[in-house]
Parts: sequence; C-alpha cells; structure tokens
Amino acid sequence: MDKNAITEKINSLKLKNNAIILAHNYQIDEVQDVADYVGDSFELSQIAADSKADLILFCGVHFMAESAAILAPQKTVLLPDLNAGCPLADMITADQLQELKKDYPGAAVAAYINSSAAVKAESDICVTSANAVKVVNALTEDTVLFVPDGNLAHFVAERTDKRIISWQGYCNTHHSVDVEDVVQARESYPGAQIVVHPECRPEVVAMADASMGTGGMIQYSRDAAAEDIVVGTEKGMLHRLKKECTSKRFHILSSKLICPDMKYTTLEKVLTALEQKKHVITVSPEVREKAEFALKRMLAVMV
Ligand code: 13P
Repeated sequence: MDKNAITEKINSLKLKNNAIILAHNYQIDEVQDVADYVGDSFELSQIAADSKADLILFCGVHFMAESAAILAPQKTVLLPDLNAGCPLADMITADQLQELKKDYPGAAVAAYINSSAAVKAESDICVTSANAVKVVNALTEDTVLFVPDGNLAHFVAERTDKRIISWQGYCNTHHSVDVEDVVQARESYPGAQIVVHPECRPEVVAMADASMGTGGMIQYSRDAAAEDIVVGTEKGMLHRLKKECTSKRFHILSSKLICPDMKYTTLEKVLTALEQKKHVITVSPEVREKAEFALKRMLAVMV
C-alpha cells in the first residue's frame, strides 16, 4: 500500500473510533504528518488530559503513552510498537527511589516525565524539560531529589537556590554529544545560533547559545537573529522546525542525535495499531492514582 492509501485508511479509522493521534517531536516525518498534534512531552500530556477522544494513539515512547493513560484513565491509549522504550526512564526503579528517599527525609521528589509510572507514584511532582526550573522553584521544600536525568538536574541546579540531589541517569542520545561537536558546528556554520536540549552534558549546554525543551526551540528559532540554527536534540525535531519556521535553515549538531526508540513507530504500524487496537497501555489503579497526583501537580503549576 502506498503512503497516501495508508494515510487515508488511518484518517477513516480515526473518525470511526473517535481517536486522536499524538506524536512527539522526535517521530519520523511521515508519522508527524499524520498526527493531530505534534509536540513536546508537556504539551502532549496536557492534550491527553484534556482530550474528548475515546482513543489516544500515542506515537512516542512507552513512558509518554503511560503518562497519557495515567491522565486519561477512561480512554484507551495505544502505543504502536511496544519496543519503543526509554533507556533513561529505565535507569531508576521505584525500589531505588524508595532507598534514596530514606537518606533525605523531608526532601521533595521531582521526577522527570521520562520515568516509569511506578517512579512517578513515588514522587511528589513531575517535571518536563519545558518546566523543570519553574516546577522545582514552586516547591516549598529546600532540598529536592531530582530523578533520573543527571544532566537536567545539573541544568536545574544552576538555575535555582534549592539544593538538588541528582540521580546520575542520562539519555544515551543527548549524552553522546560532546564539546568537539559544538566546536565543529561553530566552524561549519559561522554566525549560527546553537540551541541544545538540557539532557545534553553540562559542558555542551555551557557552550551553546541557549538550552531548552523541544517545544521552546520553535519560538527560539522564530525569534533568533541568525538565519542558521544548529539544533542539539533528536533529529526528528528538524522536520517540525522546518515546518514551523520556514525562514530559517536548520542543521543537526551531531549525526549521533538519533533516538532508536523514537524510530520504531512507522506509518504502517500506526495503521495496524488502529486496525487491531494494539498495544493497549494500562497502569494498575494504585500506581495510577499516585502517579496522577504527581503529574497533575505539575500541570497545576503551569496553569
Ligand atoms: P521534550 O519534553 O523537550 O520534548 O523532551 C522529551 C525527551 O524525551 C527528550 O529526550
């Protein structure tokens, strides 16, 4: 079946099932193009929470679909390929977090949305890269356990007076970027502005012109004085940026910036997921209720 025929089938199944398709900014181009909404982790969790659809097809990775299932328990949430995980999210378990909490009584726990439902359930609040500094600053506690991303924790620690205790997890994709990549980009694109994700190493963030979540990169690019923007996040973001900001030229900071998990989802798998109603993502009621509290607390800070 050709692309147009698949897209037509997807659209008619969407109508029939009162479904919406959410796609993260890192999805492949044709999956982004068939989605109803493309966005960052925060925007997509907000849309899932507010949606009137009966079925949410989540084109992203497991923790994203799980967050949608936590926030929209009355809806069916589908993930087209169960292999789409997040190694960063797997770097801390609920048991490990429970142990860490014992060492810091009275500290608040901020869980990056890139974490399992069980870890969120052990946390006081969730954060995304779009709001981590604001959410941490809104906490009343002076000490914050920040899990699981050590680079994002460092980014937050540099922008808050609170004491941040970090877990040393990392995103394989963003952590692979090094200082040499930034040096080379400055040489290859003189005059360009370099924007990187805060999951990058602190020394990379320090050398960039700006650091923010994927959603923020769109406005940043529109406002940038430079015509060339070098992007230090997963390659899929370039498709979104090129569509939203046609007056600029975009370049990837490093050819290593490809997340294999985000690439599992294809147009064919989106169609199969809708046809066969798979794979349904569920969360046990006890975990869901506690994880929902942490996610909703984040959403409330951002209203
Ligand atoms: P954003 O929330 O900035 O889209 O980031 C999601 C993510 O998984 C980064 O690796």
